[in-house]
Amino acid sequence: MPAERRYRSAKQRRDPAPAVADPAAGECKRFGRHYTPPALARFLAHRVVSQAAPSQAGVLRVLDPACGNGELLLAAHTEATARFPGMRLVLTGYDLDAQAIVAARERAEAAGVAARWYAADFLAAGTRLTQGSFDAVITNPPYVRTQQLGGSTAHLLRRRFGLHGRIDLTHPFVATLPRLLAGGGVLGLLCANRFLTTKAGANIRDLLLSDLSPIELYDLGDTKLFAAAVLPAIIIARRADYRGGCRYISIYETAGRPTCALSLFDALVTQHPATVGHKGRVFAIEAGTLLTGAESRARGSAPPTARGRRSTRDRGTARSGGGASLPQWGWRMSHAAVDSWLARVEARTWRTFGEVARVRVGIKTTADRIFISDRWADADPCPEPELLRALLTHRELAPWRATCRPDLRVLYPYDPAHARPTPIDFADFPAAAAYLSANKEALAGRRYLIDSGRAWFEIWVPQRPRLWREPKVVFPDISDRPRFALDRSGAVVNGDCYWISLPELSRVPVDALRLAYLLMGVANSSFGVRFYDVSCGNRLYSHRRRWTTEYVSRMPLPDPTLPRSAAVIDLVRELIEHHPPDRAALGELDRLVESAFGVP
Ligand SMILES: C[S@@+](CC[C@H](N)C(=O)[O-])C[C@H]1O[C@@H](n2cnc3c(N)ncnc32)[C@H](O)[C@@H]1O
Repeated sequence: MPAERRYRSAKQRRDPAPAVADPAAGECKRFGRHYTPPALARFLAHRVVSQAAPSQAGVLRVLDPACGNGELLLAAHTEATARFPGMRLVLTGYDLDAQAIVAARERAEAAGVAARWYAADFLAAGTRLTQGSFDAVITNPPYVRTQQLGGSTAHLLRRRFGLHGRIDLTHPFVATLPRLLAGGGVLGLLCANRFLTTKAGANIRDLLLSDLSPIELYDLGDTKLFAAAVLPAIIIARRADYRGGCRYISIYETAGRPTCALSLFDALVTQHPATVGHKGRVFAIEAGTLLTGAESRARGSAPPTARGRRSTRDRGTARSGGGASLPQWGWRMSHAAVDSWLARVEARTWRTFGEVARVRVGIKTTADRIFISDRWADADPCPEPELLRALLTHRELAPWRATCRPDLRVLYPYDPAHARPTPIDFADFPAAAAYLSANKEALAGRRYLIDSGRAWFEIWVPQRPRLWREPKVVFPDISDRPRFALDRSGAVVNGDCYWISLPELSRVPVDALRLAYLLMGVANSSFGVRFYDVSCGNRLYSHRRRWTTEYVSRMPLPDPTLPRSAAVIDLVRELIEHHPPDRAALGELDRLVESAFGVP
């Protein structure tokens, strides 16, 4: 395979790039082709050019390694000619998509802008470019996840670019860029904001600190300034050693529906921190400085103990001598109010959720139409009732106590007596066998399941059959407020929720039920939401948050043996028993949890 094609995703190789204009959604996803809207392109170009300096020869050399139809380079041209009148500009754009390059060239010619355009795979071409070739790089690199890339391509990219864990195509792109910048040169990167706080984002965080020094960071939150499903962030970084002091601005909607307007950015740059309205929509702008994981740890009082998990560059857990301090994953905004609040919480943190609990995702059938129904009586043949298990989905979950829908059932084809998933014997369940066989074509078409050595009628993520009958704490993956509920019904949990089995809470010598109550009290309180926003910060549109294993594991617990914690535990028990809770009781819970952590 020629070098140019080597790093294309599996799907890209199967399917040649389609036309540029208005790419269909599936193609956008496959090729990471979400073009930057003009307002956002102007903002990014404005910030890059403000920080850039022409090289000694009086030339400003700007690269876009995945230029699409040229929006970013054209915006950079507009900004640079305004800031450096008479300066010679050398613009260079690469894109895998030859038709995009034709469009970019035509647009540039129509605007009288000279540029070099190359139709090529930049992951191959970039490695052949001379070190320090550019004074600025402006980029919105393709975002293509591992699932889309295919396992072997992801593996190749990991090896080739020194990356780790789950990657997307943004990671190798960013890996090629620092080397191409001249000393003091500037990178302007637009990408999904998830990298700030997720484990998978460690690749980008590490790259942005290894040869670069971030100087401006904009988390553009739910402004919907970008058409893709991801929430965008912009990072401006200089080719220099990291010295800290990166300005960090975030903008999230506080009410109403989001909008897209350049005036928003003007406000963002000039008026922060502030709450700005635009056409009746209100956005809160917060400003502070960037705190990396390494800086967080440096502020901690002691290095990790043997028990603490050691970190790579900015991951890991800092532990202080006496008690436990909070794990400092990823990056967060630092300002006086948040820092002092977190320090107080940290001082009262006994363990994190992740240290006492195993947070599991629910089952994933990958054939819900066949396995899940609220009308099993109509099925012919109807599987044996003992295999049709009550199912908890995000729809049923409200805080404190889970209530199953009586009619919703999942056909769970495993023996519930076993800890490990053991498929049923068809001889024992002839009706289920007949029902599944009637759907064999669709079920056996799930090649990934067969390839992983499983029987054709299994589900993709079955979890531990024996644990279902045990009490558990269940909560939806996506919800605006936390909705942690206790389930004692023995229901199976669906893949749109996460769960903590009480027998798996016995990692510490504390009664599992009391610990579960404490955990629910912390999570469902206003404190829990604030902690989530400060330390995880992964909000989606319409104020929704993701309560995944990664984030929930970071939540703190106060010492359960202390009287303040006991008060939380007693109140949660009451809230569960006297369902639904009244407003006064919830106010009391907020007060008790805050008091347990010593924060007002
Ligand atoms: C998110 S779009 C950004 C396009 C443009 N820079 C903009 O901001 O509007 C990413 C671009 O990367 C291109 N691309 C994907 N894989 C590539 C590769 N290996 N080399 C170069 N370009 C690639 C896609 O064709 C797409 O045009």
